[in-house]
Amino acid sequence: MTSPPQARVAIVLGSGLSEVARTLVPAEPIPYSSLEGMAAPTAGGHEGALYTGKLEGVPTLIFAGRLHLYEGHEVTRVVQPVRLAHEAGCDTIILTNASGGIDPSLPVGGFALISDHLNLTGTNPLLGHADTGTRFLDLTEVYDAELRALARAADPTLKEGVYAGLIGPVYETPAEIRMLRAMGADLVGMSTVLEAIEARRLGMRVLGLSLVTNAAAGLSSTKLEHEEVSAAGRAAAGRLEGLLRKLVADL
Ligand code: HPA
Repeated sequence: MTSPPQARVAIVLGSGLSEVARTLVPAEPIPYSSLEGMAAPTAGGHEGALYTGKLEGVPTLIFAGRLHLYEGHEVTRVVQPVRLAHEAGCDTIILTNASGGIDPSLPVGGFALISDHLNLTGTNPLLGHADTGTRFLDLTEVYDAELRALARAADPTLKEGVYAGLIGPVYETPAEIRMLRAMGADLVGMSTVLEAIEARRLGMRVLGLSLVTNAAAGLSSTKLEHEEVSAAGRAAAGRLEGLLRKLVADL
């Protein structure tokens, strides 16, 4: 088993976004299978390798691909990249994902900042934590306001939205999207919320960056397909690279 090298910043690349890793830090990647507690992803568009190196002079870990509950993984495995990043000394984590847009003012094909979340996965990485301080973790500000301000400075067109994290793997029904909208969600996806909670438990600063790959179910006439989601991710790779470079340089 290999341990990630010491670093300051970690980035997790979601659906279709993996290929940005090798342009950001063009080093030989470490396959997830040789990292403690990790497994090879089974979701298309998720590579399953850790890229390490200096990004804009900052030692960075880039997890190309993530593990999801819907693949049958335990919560501990889903949040393992966060734990590895923390052990490697990272104090900041940037969680990227692909999402369905519920708020029509968040354009399809564009990135949005996650301002807050609804954890609707039915589980939590803190289950079983006996320590009261840890168990009753304050989640008033999961997504760091200062980091969001930095991201907006890097790209003033970035809007913010509340991300609803569901277990998946099916896409939502139009009725579920209406429910989520009434509950205050602007974006919907199948990841990120558990990782963000674990990062907060470990005292890390979290930035959530979501690529709106499609209008959520029932809001457009097209059917939802994973290939479409991955393709939207690949199409946005160049913009993501530029944004991540600016962001990390300013941290
Ligand atoms: N729903 C859930 N997850 C997603 C979506 C969606 O519409 N798009 C990309 N990930």
